[in-house]
Amino acid sequence: MVVENPRLVAAAAIRVDSRAAGGANDLRPRNASGIDRMTTYGLLKILHIVLVLISGLGFAMRGFVRLVLDRPLANPLVRFGPHLVDTLLLASGVALWILLGTSPLGQAWFGAKLALIAGYIVVGIAAFRSEGRGRGILLFLVALALFLAIAWLALLKPF
Ligand code: HEM
Repeated sequence: MVVENPRLVAAAAIRVDSRAAGGANDLRPRNASGIDRMTTYGLLKILHIVLVLISGLGFAMRGFVRLVLDRPLANPLVRFGPHLVDTLLLASGVALWILLGTSPLGQAWFGAKLALIAGYIVVGIAAFRSEGRGRGILLFLVALALFLAIAWLALLKPF
């Protein structure tokens, strides 16, 4: 059984507090303008995750209406909005990649994620261009599975 010294626990709590408050013990890396780099990374990551949710839900809804219900996507917002969201999603991912300084070859989960993203884009486009309805729905389901696999890889980093 581990018995913790209450005075050491209190001292550790004070150190954590002063780090969080940006005090003398705040050792988080800062850039030239004094902006906390970790904060920039954290905000970008939140933006990335919000864009992942908007993009994924939008793709699922468009596929359901266009391919499963067989109805046209006539609204200009539905036609051009996804391009904007997906461009921002890719840009935020690349920005995180640069800040993280990670390599797709060095980190297997990241390499696999990039490969699956390429597959998701190809299969997703093929689903909407498909001639037959059954084939379109099948490709749509494969694209959805790829999207979920990408998110799973990013969240769990299993290898
Ligand atoms: C379909 C597109 C994408 C999906 C579904 C997706 C999903 C996610 C999710 C869920 C996270 C959060 C992981 C966590 O909380 O630890 C994440 C983080 C990240 N994503 Fe993406 N992403 C996509 C596109 C991209 C692209 C295109 C890139 C780079 C080219 C990228 C690079 C990153 C990086 C570097 C992180 C941070 C990992 C970390 O901090 O541990 N993502 N992504």
